[in-house]
Amino acid sequence: MKSSSRLNPKDFESFNVTAKPSSTERKTVILVAGARPNFVKLAPLYSELASRNETFETLILHTGQHYDSKMSDVFFKELGIPKPHIHLGVGSGSHAEQTAKVMIECDKVFTERKPDMVVVFGDINSTLAASVTAAKSGIPVTHVEAGLRSFDRTMPEELNRLVTDCMSDLLLTPSKDANRNLEREGVPREKVEMVGNIMIDTLVKFLPEADKSDVLERFNLQPQKYALLTMHRPGNVDDPTGLEAVLDIIEQIAEDYKIVFPAHPRTRNNFVAYGGRAQRFIEGDLSNLILTEPLGYLDFLKLQKESGVTLTDSGGVQEETSYLGVPCLTLRPNTERPITITHGTNHLIGLNVTSAVEHARRFMQESRGVHQPPPLWDGHTAERIADSLERFLFGTGREREIRALTVIAREEALKALTM
Ligand code: UD1
Ligand code: UDP
Repeated sequence: MKSSSRLNPKDFESFNVTAKPSSTERKTVILVAGARPNFVKLAPLYSELASRNETFETLILHTGQHYDSKMSDVFFKELGIPKPHIHLGVGSGSHAEQTAKVMIECDKVFTERKPDMVVVFGDINSTLAASVTAAKSGIPVTHVEAGLRSFDRTMPEELNRLVTDCMSDLLLTPSKDANRNLEREGVPREKVEMVGNIMIDTLVKFLPEADKSDVLERFNLQPQKYALLTMHRPGNVDDPTGLEAVLDIIEQIAEDYKIVFPAHPRTRNNFVAYGGRAQRFIEGDLSNLILTEPLGYLDFLKLQKESGVTLTDSGGVQEETSYLGVPCLTLRPNTERPITITHGTNHLIGLNVTSAVEHARRFMQESRGVHQPPPLWDGHTAERIADSLERFLFGTGREREIRALTVIAREEALKALTM
């Protein structure tokens, strides 16, 4: 270990120099994905790293957290992601079971493949499990979508975000608020880089293809004359109070408008188990409700773009509607994506039935405003991430030394504080 007395401010100034890799030292990067939103984030980065194949050997590891073809295969097919090089097949389970299985299986893979870097996305259980396993094996971890915070520790995703960021060596953020959160938590600044929103790369690339989808005709819908709904947070669909509120919102909006609801498997299972109104909605009891299986990316993107209003508890949907300029009502008490409110079209409604229905009716009647996307939500995030990985993996010995020193410097500063 080096002594922090060697720290010199000049070292930091030179840190951002890009060192071009020599083709003889190709680095192995494992991209870990487990659930629907991960696949949407992985697609552009895989494509960018694969195009730099003299620099990176890029492997896709699918944990198997999501496994239904409509939650997994369809994204690989539509987004042109190759079959995963490694599939762990962990499936569903309690948080502890699922996390533990991913850790055990990742450990075997990391031991055998010895990657130079493990890249994780978002905030799901697979993200946490892979980041902890890699860090404990001494493998550098990159977190794509670092720094987001809802400050609500009852959400499993918030715990996953906190742990993953603690494990990560390179924290790549989508927006300034995330940088501020990390700074407040004492993460050394040189580990953090704002790269923009990788989900928007996928949206930008696939929007022309989504525009060709015939989903509106299939469901007999007119542009901006229907509402779109997605719902899968445990707080909304596992809890009877939340479920009742969601059912009320559906029923009241459906009095006046068509509402398309591609139900997540967690939600469908809960509707069936709950019975009563929920079961009847699944059986087609409400004529204006189009309750479907989860949809493929292209159909769903087209439905978002043309909806009069989108109601959701999804993280990704808050971002995509903001980019598209479609009014979004978030049926949660908080969001880890405040930029979608300050710079986008998102409105935080909670599970207030009256407010949700009133807002939905208003937006269905109003014409849309014009919105500028947040900085760096521009379709080029994957390139910036690949550059950042190059700098990290191929930086000069001096640059690596500085990274190590900054960690020590932080430890020393903390020690000084507690003395
Ligand atoms: C997970 C993530 C959540 C993310 C969501 C994206 C965690 C803690 N949660 O939630 O952050 O927003 O994915 O959609 O990681 N199931 C199936 N088929 C599948 C997958 C799941 O039937 O292909 C059912 C199972 O009954 C399972 C339940 O859905 O128990 C929940 O799946 P799970 O992956 O645990 O959590 P999600 O609710 O999908
Ligand atoms: N999505 C989709 N089909 C659907 C619902 C969502 O393709 O039926 C896409 C959506 O466009 C976004 C991603 O899935 O790209 C969001 O995933 P989800 O809401 O499951 O997870 P979250 O973002 O909340 O973690």
